[in-house]
Amino acid sequence: MKVGVVGAGTMGRGIGQIFAQSGHDVIIIDVSPEALNFARKDIKNSLERLLKKDKIKEAPETILGRIEFLGDIESLKSCAIVIEAVFERIDIKKDTLAKISSFVSEDAVIGSNTSSISIDVLSRSVKRPERFLGIHFFNPVPVMSLVEIVPSEATSREILETTTELLKSVGKDPVFSKNFPGFISNRILMPMIREAILTYEQGIASPSDIDKTFMLGMNHPMGPLKLADFIGLDVCYDIMEVLYRDFGNPSFKPPITLKNLVDSGKLGVKSGRGFYNYKVKKE
Ligand code: CAA
Repeated sequence: MKVGVVGAGTMGRGIGQIFAQSGHDVIIIDVSPEALNFARKDIKNSLERLLKKDKIKEAPETILGRIEFLGDIESLKSCAIVIEAVFERIDIKKDTLAKISSFVSEDAVIGSNTSSISIDVLSRSVKRPERFLGIHFFNPVPVMSLVEIVPSEATSREILETTTELLKSVGKDPVFSKNFPGFISNRILMPMIREAILTYEQGIASPSDIDKTFMLGMNHPMGPLKLADFIGLDVCYDIMEVLYRDFGNPSFKPPITLKNLVDSGKLGVKSGRGFYNYKVKKE
């Protein structure tokens, strides 16, 4: 089976990787040749890590050999399923989904990896809404087994079932959410991150003490501010904006500190600066 992934960012790379690991042929599409070059290197690194830990049996080069890195969305014609993983901006997603829909075959399934945008709204951009649904992966995709599956009003039962089985067959353990802002995960996670930012903004505690509270007190693998840096502060901001707008509830409003960090290009791990400093991974 051939799987298409549109967007070679962190999520797109991880999604392509797990399907290739399970023996599927994969096409990863991105308009940026630099993003595609980086994707190849990043997937190779991740596969080497998994091989070292005995989590995969095949050589990374063999798995990589199943992935084509292409710039041309027309190449998706041969895919049985295409997963959109572009920026969390409604206009970009709608535009990308419309393009995907115009190139894929009639019986292809289209999924969106949106983390918060309404699946009903996005479904209006595709030609066959009954074959479209939300498939939300978690970062790092090769490590996190969860996937949130979100049908729209139009998604057919058959597509919901076959997609669920496909995701299980590549090692994912799904939960199902109605199409509601933030689904299950981000409706609950983003208010926690927001409160952590406000706790820092109000001078109540340092980032490291806020994070330590959750790591040592609640056994989280990383505290909420480190997690926000890891997810990407721009991504957190965009998700909070969707929640704030769609619920109309100020308790989802992105904090000013978050906006200031994003406006000054401090986006977390990927930019080297956020609540903490990082070494930026370069091509
Ligand atoms: N590829 C392959 N393996 C990877 C990897 C990658 N990209 N990243 C980490 N690993 C592996 C490591 O090799 C290691 O394997 P072992 O357990 O076999 O030793 C394991 O994962 C743990 O990694 P590390 O030892 O390097 O580091 P760590 O113990 O600090 O774990 C982490 C890193 C897995 C990211 C962990 O900190 C964690 O689980 N953090 C929380 C992540 C999280 O909450 N993700 C969801 C974010 S929300 C989201 O994605 C959706 C959204 O809509 C916002």
